[in-house]
Parts: sequence; structure tokens; C-alpha cells
Amino acid sequence: MVEAMTGESRMCEIPAADIDRQKAIMMQVRCVLQDWPSQPLAYIDTYGCQQNESDSEKLRGMLAEMGFGATGDEYMADVVVVNTCAIRENAENRVLGNVGELIHTKKAKPSQIVVFCGCLAGVPETVGKIRESYHQVDLVFPPNKLWRFPELLQSVLRPVQPVMNARPRTTRRRVFDTEPDDGAIAEGLPIGRDGTVKAWLPIMYGCNNFCSYCIVPHVRGRERSRSPEDIISEARGLVASGYKDITLLGQNVNSYGGGRLYKGQPYEGAATDFAALIRSLNDIDGEFLIRFMTSHPKDASVALFRAMAESGKAARHIHLPFQAGNDRILGLMNRGYTHGGYLEKVAAARELMPDIVITSDVIVGFPGETDEDFEDTLQLVRKARFDAMFTFIYSKRPGTPAAGLADATTREEKQIRFDRLLDLQNSISEEKHRRYVGTTMKVLVDGVADNELYPLKARTNGGRLVHLIGDACLLGSFVEASITHCNSWSLFGVIAKTGI
Ligand code: SAH
Ligand code: SF4
Ligand code: F3S
Repeated sequence: MVEAMTGESRMCEIPAADIDRQKAIMMQVRCVLQDWPSQPLAYIDTYGCQQNESDSEKLRGMLAEMGFGATGDEYMADVVVVNTCAIRENAENRVLGNVGELIHTKKAKPSQIVVFCGCLAGVPETVGKIRESYHQVDLVFPPNKLWRFPELLQSVLRPVQPVMNARPRTTRRRVFDTEPDDGAIAEGLPIGRDGTVKAWLPIMYGCNNFCSYCIVPHVRGRERSRSPEDIISEARGLVASGYKDITLLGQNVNSYGGGRLYKGQPYEGAATDFAALIRSLNDIDGEFLIRFMTSHPKDASVALFRAMAESGKAARHIHLPFQAGNDRILGLMNRGYTHGGYLEKVAAARELMPDIVITSDVIVGFPGETDEDFEDTLQLVRKARFDAMFTFIYSKRPGTPAAGLADATTREEKQIRFDRLLDLQNSISEEKHRRYVGTTMKVLVDGVADNELYPLKARTNGGRLVHLIGDACLLGSFVEASITHCNSWSLFGVIAKTGI
């Protein structure tokens, strides 16, 4: 049950009465669907980051509550949900291409409902395209409206009385719930989790940083943090259900709580900042790991590194995107730190946790980036020596400040910079991975692979992927693995000991 609003401190929560209304609607839909000739099926297609994966788990939970079964086949589905990503143009093109294809599934099954949600549903230009040219789409809503999914689905899913053995037809009403808002926090929605070992645990939503290239603050609203009580109680539930690897999610987890709460209202709970939250989660009994992403360097504090170092359950990994190595470009990006300041944070983390794995994101070809500016990025990568790095070519996003900046660099020049960066990082990653070879380390078996030679996937405490030889019954166990070889992306090993 969702707590009633307890005053100012919970101002950003959707009132419990509104959530209860959605729950009642889910039951109504379930009753209606029971009259269908066979169980209706839903297919969810998820793009983008972990936040979207977590949102899809809520969509799955709500669909299950409404009586939908799951299918992996779009042609079988009565409802197709496309949970979209807007971060780069190629992500958008991929989504629109696949939504375009749904015209065929809909032709084969005219009663099919197509739902377009996620970040692209918060971009007015894209919503315009869907309205004009993608008539197969029935329902559109952005991430901030996710909690209203039962009500929205009900409004397009109006089965008429079933005729003998025929699929009920639906009304062909299209619903666009795309009015922009700042977003809120909805507690108490059902969650249909994807796995049994790893779990996503969102601790905050939205973003206030407005990096000049980034669309996220425009589509996910203002930053707001869940209460520590709600987070800790969800984490306890996960541990009790056997989850071993919990990843706390937020666009900038370092600004969780204190000082940056929605509408400036402090929570009354114990953990009021991210470091305190890590310590509180570490106090939960049981053997499990706490991971988190993403950390913004400007808010990554020594207090956080100390909390990690002193919390045995906090994984020794931090994903700390630096985006660019040149101070002028960092300023234009509105990142709030410098090349030197970033490296100081890395040094502070390593001083407290010498074995910490540090990964990062970088953008090449931000508008106005020169070859000399790019040299600073290479320099930072040489100095920081990341364990892994995700490299992106700048993509112009509508409505962001950087979209208005002049950009004289050609795509080919950007590709050359991209390739140089990739080569440099690959050699560093491989060198770092080589140090694991010949060692034996504790890893968590967190997945099975479609690979006869290496049927298991595991993660080191620092989050490096290990392809393992072993039996699928070990899924969810901590084991000791001997690392035999590596490449720049992952490690390979055999099990040395189980039951540890
Ligand atoms: N909130 C996280 C990252 C969110 S997006 C953070 O601040 O680190 C994930 C990554 O996509 C970013 O770190 C950035 O490297 C990249 N990205 C975001 N917008 C982009 C754009 N317009 N073009 C290219 N890459 C982008
Ligand atoms: Fe985007 Fe910056 Fe917010 Fe990350 S911190 S989501 S890059 S605006
Ligand atoms: Fe994409 Fe939205 Fe995540 S734009 S990266 S799905 S926050």
C-alpha cells in the first residue's frame, strides 16, 4: 500500500488515491479481458538505458495485473508497447523504423493496439511525426505519464461484445497524453522484473543538469528523489526474494537527497544524501552487491567514496562519464567541472579504493571541438586509464542549447577522432584486463549465454564481464573463478570453487 501524503516533504508524489484509481482500473480491465476467447498477449520492445528497462518492468507489471500474458512475437501480440529512447538520432531512427514495420503486424491483426511511450514520446517533433505519419500507433505518452498507463490503455482498449469465437474489435480512437509536466514520483505500481539475480532500483527520476547536448532533462522532467524509506524497503524486498545484485538508478545519483530534493523539501528519513543512502543499504542483512549509475563528476564527493570504501556490499565500480577533456568544451557542455577537477575526483576514488573499476562516457565532435581540443580528450583518457569507456559521436537533439551551435567539423573528421579514441581505450582496457589473467576471484554468476563453450555469464565485483565454463544451476551464486584469458571487453574463466 502506498502511504498517504504526509505533508510538504512528499509533495512530488502522486497522491495515493490516484495510484489506487489506477489499481482499480487494472482490475476492471482484467474483468473485461476475462471474456476474451483466449488470454490476450503483450509484447514490450525496450530501447535506451537502464531507466527505460526499469520503466518497462513497471509496464510489464501493470500488463500482468490487467491479465495480459507475455509474448516475444509481435504478430501474436494484442498489445505492442514500444518504450523508446531519444538520446541520439540513430536511436530515434531505429525506433521509428521498427514502429514503421508494425504496420504489417497491425494489418495481420487489426485489433492490435500499438503503444508508443518512453523518451521519444516527450519530443514534440517526434510526437508530430507519429500523429501525422504513423497511424498504426494508438497510444502515446512520455515517461512522466507511465503511472497512468492502465487508464490510458483502457481508453484505447474498448473491446466490443465478443461475437462467437471472434477476437473482440477495439475502437480506433487514438490517444496522445503528451502535455509536458515536471514529473512526479509514483509509488506502489506493480513491477514485473526481468531477471532473478540482478534488479534495477530507481532512486530518483528526471534531471536538472541540462548538459547542453542532452535531451533527457527535456523529456524526463525535473530531478526528484524517492524517499529513503521507500528505497530501503524495496531493497529489503529484493534481498528477501534472492536478488544478489541491485543497481540504484538515476541520471545523477550523486545529487540524491539533501539540497536537491524536489521543490527543496527535505525528507524526514535517515539517509538524506547518496553517501548516507549507500551506508543504509549496506546495513541490510544478506549477501548482495549494491551498484549505481550514473554518477555526475561535479557531485561525486569524497564522502561518497568513503561510504563506498567502508561499505562491504558497495561494488568497487563507478561509472563517471567525463564527456570531454577540454575545459572550453566542458564549459560549452555545461558540465560544471574541468579536466583537472575530473582527474582529481578519479585520484580521490583510487586513493580510498585502489582496486576500483572506473568506466566512463565520452562524446566526440561536440559543436566547435577542434583537433587541439580533442587532444585534451585523448590526454584525459591516457591519464585516467579507464577500465572501459563508451564513445559516442555528438548527435544534434531538437530543443537543446547545443543544437543552435555552429558545427563546422565533418562527419568524416569526427569518425577519425572516434576511431583514435577507440583504439587508445581498447589498448588500455586490454592491458587492464590482462592483469586479471592467472588470478582467481569471486564473481557472481548473473546470466546464461547462448554459447556452448562458455554457457555462463558472471560479473566481477567491479562489474567486468566474465564468460565462464560451468553449469546453469550456478545462476545466482557467488563462485570463485580462475581467469584464463581476456580481450578488451571481457574476461574468460573456469570455476575454481563453488559454495563460497
Ligand atoms: N545521466 C547520465 C547519462 C545519460 S545519457 C550522465 O550524465 O552521465 C548516456 C550518455 O549518452 C551520456 O553520458 C553521453 O555520453 C551520451 N549522450 C547524451 N546526449 C548525447 C548526444 N546528444 N550526442 C551524443 N551522445 C550523447
Ligand atoms: Fe543528460 Fe547531463 Fe542529465 Fe546526464 S546529467 S542526463 S548527460 S543532462
Ligand atoms: Fe534514452 Fe531516455 Fe535513457 S533518452 S538513454 S531512454 S533517459
